[in-house]
Amino acid sequence: MRNSAAGRIVGIFGWPVAHSRSPLLHGFWLDLHGIDGAYVPLTVAPEHFEQALRILPRLGFVGANVTVPHKEAALEAVDEADELARRIGAVNTVVVRGDGSLHGSNTDAFGFLENLRESVPDWTPAGDPAVVVGAGGAARAIAFALADSGAPEIRIVNRTAARAKALAGELGPVAQAWPWADRAGSLNEAGLLVNTTKLGMEGEAPLGLPLDALPREAVVTDAVYVPLHTALLVEAAARGNRVVDGLGMLLHQARPGFEAWFGVAPAVTDELRARIEADLKGLSRP
Ligand code: ATR
Repeated sequence: MRNSAAGRIVGIFGWPVAHSRSPLLHGFWLDLHGIDGAYVPLTVAPEHFEQALRILPRLGFVGANVTVPHKEAALEAVDEADELARRIGAVNTVVVRGDGSLHGSNTDAFGFLENLRESVPDWTPAGDPAVVVGAGGAARAIAFALADSGAPEIRIVNRTAARAKALAGELGPVAQAWPWADRAGSLNEAGLLVNTTKLGMEGEAPLGLPLDALPREAVVTDAVYVPLHTALLVEAAARGNRVVDGLGMLLHQARPGFEAWFGVAPAVTDELRARIEADLKGLSRP
């Protein structure tokens, strides 16, 4: 039974939100597990976001996801946020507790690590230096995930030096800001390269980072998943690096929320991936 009056309802806030694959993803799991529930897109403008989030308990919602541009505002709007969300500075998952209060967390860091662990089981964050390109919201979640899992060195490479320095400062001695002009040199002896910028996304310029200095043993991953095989990943794979596309991060970050709202721990399966990939291909067709 799906979607009866007694079913649990979860929303995803965005502005816009039509591009989000989260309703498809959670809908897949609801069907698979025969859960009476619904996961609905909520297109809410920034000026109405806090009010809309705060009213969820009175509408009977059990929780929500929050996407661009509301993640920072969500941190301010919830009653309590966990420590990782506070350090990242953003909330993407909200749970309505029994007393009607809102609890916020950030599952992007979990999604990033699980995607790598599943795709490259012998890779460990505690090995060699990691290079994070970008210093925005996605970079913050990824950099804190790496720092918390024992990365020996995190190099933050960002066009705007001040943002790289600020993030490196928050991460502590493990991190260093790397000048954008010297970005090719940041790859020396690295074990992981992550692009967190929108460069390489459909309609955007490619990242254009020369990979010559990157060891062949390094893993390369991209937060961009449209297209799935970005120019960065294609180039890295061609020179022998192991590559991990960004779709897995989206799929894995959804797991903790689904479990908290619906009481079932869902799995990221090939069938789920195929379903989302087919949808991505359909929408990017001219
Ligand atoms: P998100 O939350 O998705 O990470 P964001 O906070 O807007 O988005 O961050 C975007 C990141 O992509 C930033 O690191 C940004 O660099 P700046 O801090 O210099 O703005 C980076 N970025 C976006 N466009 C870029 C470009 N054309 N060249 C280099 N970096 C770019």
